[in-house]
Amino acid sequence: MTERDYDVIVLGAGGAGLMAAATAGQSGARVLLIDHADKPGKKILISGGGRCNFTNTGTGPENFLSENPHFAKSALSRYTRWEFVALVERYGIAWHEKTLGQLFCDGSARQIVAMLLEECSRGGVEIRLSTPLGEIGHADGRFEVAGAKAGQLVIATGGPSIPKMGATGVAYDIARRFGLPVVTPRPALVPFTLGDEDALFKAIPGVSFPAVARVGDIAFQEAALFTHKGLSGPAILQVSSYWTPGEPVVLSVLPDAAAVLRAARQEMPRAHLKAALSRHLPARLAEVLAARIGLEQELGNCSDAKLFQAAETLTALTFWPTGTEGYAKAEVTAGGIATAGLSSKTMEARDVPGLYAIGEAVDVTGWLGGYNFQWAWSSGVAAGLAVAERALGGR
Ligand code: FDA
Repeated sequence: MTERDYDVIVLGAGGAGLMAAATAGQSGARVLLIDHADKPGKKILISGGGRCNFTNTGTGPENFLSENPHFAKSALSRYTRWEFVALVERYGIAWHEKTLGQLFCDGSARQIVAMLLEECSRGGVEIRLSTPLGEIGHADGRFEVAGAKAGQLVIATGGPSIPKMGATGVAYDIARRFGLPVVTPRPALVPFTLGDEDALFKAIPGVSFPAVARVGDIAFQEAALFTHKGLSGPAILQVSSYWTPGEPVVLSVLPDAAAVLRAARQEMPRAHLKAALSRHLPARLAEVLAARIGLEQELGNCSDAKLFQAAETLTALTFWPTGTEGYAKAEVTAGGIATAGLSSKTMEARDVPGLYAIGEAVDVTGWLGGYNFQWAWSSGVAAGLAVAERALGGR
């Protein structure tokens, strides 16, 4: 095969890699995009239940976890959610806001992938799929991957969550090979597993309810859900990103529980707790909660202290997860290539000129709700512009 001379090789044709490649190409750089998968943008295709929650109108640095909470600011402010929305609109892709600022395609996530591929094509990006990366060479300021050479290399291979879709931790291997520090990766936006002491709750899989979920000082008010393994649902996934093993997860399933129970005692004194809870919560959950609380007598015979105790359980229902469902079920990977080793403006490695890292591979992890894609777009644009500037300057 005769090799063209490339300005940049982008590793990984996910959201971040496609965006970086398109941006660099349209800015005049000669770009090669390599992926071992047989299709680009596989995670985009399955995201948001097939409709891709492509950004969030409220995106700000506070919606991300990172050892450096300021790191994402620059990229997010230079390529904002509104710029991505404008791109989506230029392609005539209809979208809607679902809830909490989350923007989804009306049609299909395939439209987002098609848009990014068209953007790459307009930038003259060469895409090689089904291509293993192999050893990465680096000599005389040039990088060599899979037989191709370029003066710049962008790591956009994401994290290891959902390995059955081809996700790997290769980004960390490459980072370490070049001496970049890596913050220990861990599954995030991931369901919890519960032990035998919570068997009652595991016996009601699929029961969903609004809740405030807490881990330490972090709280999210969204839906929660029991599964046959433990806990899931948006509120749970959100707090999972902040959880460390051995910590409790606390749910408030009935705000104002004390007032609700006192009112129930007055209105239905012959009833039991289960009946009172059923007025506010799914019947199967009410039954399990009543069993957990173990209040035997009729409400009319319950003392204030007893009701208060029950209310405490309902506002601070405490679980001690045995673990999480791991990378197999984690929507993202937290941790990753340490921001300390990267420029927040360009995503370039401080100590390895020409090497960049973007997207989920980096220690910047968004909440559930379109934030992770916005990080992919924003960090991709930051690196894409920087590689083009350097390439054109060096010609
Ligand atoms: P991504 O993982 O997308 O891309 C990495 C690319 O590198 C892949 O194409 C992969 O094949 C390639 N690669 C990996 N290892 C390689 C190797 N060894 N050799 C060669 N190539 C390799 N976020 C959001 O904002 N809104 C949403 O609706 C959703 N929904 C959602 C649903 C599900 C089920 C999951 C698993 C995740 C989401 N996310 C999400 C998260 C979002 O998908 C994720 O954060 C971005 O896809 C990250 O984009 P990247 O381009 O960084 O990595």
